[in-house]
Amino acid sequence: MSVRRLAKEQPASFAFSKATKAKADWWIAKYPAERKASAVIPILWLVQKQEGWVSEPAIRAIGELLAMPYIRVLEVATFYTMFMLEPVGSAALIQVCGTTPCMLRGANELMAVCKSRIGPKQTLSADGRFTWEEVECLGACANAPMAMINDYYFEDLTPENMAQIIDDFAAGKTPKPGSRVGRTSSEPEGGALTLTDPKLYDGSAAKPIRKLPNSEPVTA
Ligand code: FES
Repeated sequence: MSVRRLAKEQPASFAFSKATKAKADWWIAKYPAERKASAVIPILWLVQKQEGWVSEPAIRAIGELLAMPYIRVLEVATFYTMFMLEPVGSAALIQVCGTTPCMLRGANELMAVCKSRIGPKQTLSADGRFTWEEVECLGACANAPMAMINDYYFEDLTPENMAQIIDDFAAGKTPKPGSRVGRTSSEPEGGALTLTDPKLYDGSAAKPIRKLPNSEPVTA
């Protein structure tokens, strides 16, 4: 785990957009008034969606909105690595998994591509369009090596298709996420070998409903 600190250069101010504020209010309404601090994580996420990253003025604004000490919001923002504390690329934030299964399947080669095309890790590219970093396991180990790019997983990657994905983002395209060898979820290459009966998924195998005396129907 790297040390996570706020960016050295900070904007002078932060303001919630109308859309962000409306969503923040929706989250706050889910909790009792005296517990509205419980909405801090979704609101940090909304702010990140609005700005691309979480700045120090934004942390203060969230603290004011939730009646929380700023330090408490800062603690959350610096603890969870999903919150970006520096500006990130406008086209793509590439998070390459470097944990053991992905590393054994070629993560280092993917990171070499990122380095050669974008520059040093955790550094905004010269044109401001790309950032890449190494992250810990993203829970898609069966589809290693993989990377999360913006909000989506790209799996079964090779150096060649990682380079293509970066080129596509650079050209303003939106590459399709998912497996690069055509897998659905984490099934074996070539298709599923178990649980292949379509009846498992059309509801026909569900147990009948029985009714207990003086009660609502329940599943048998
Ligand atoms: S090790 Fe890469 S997703 Fe788990």
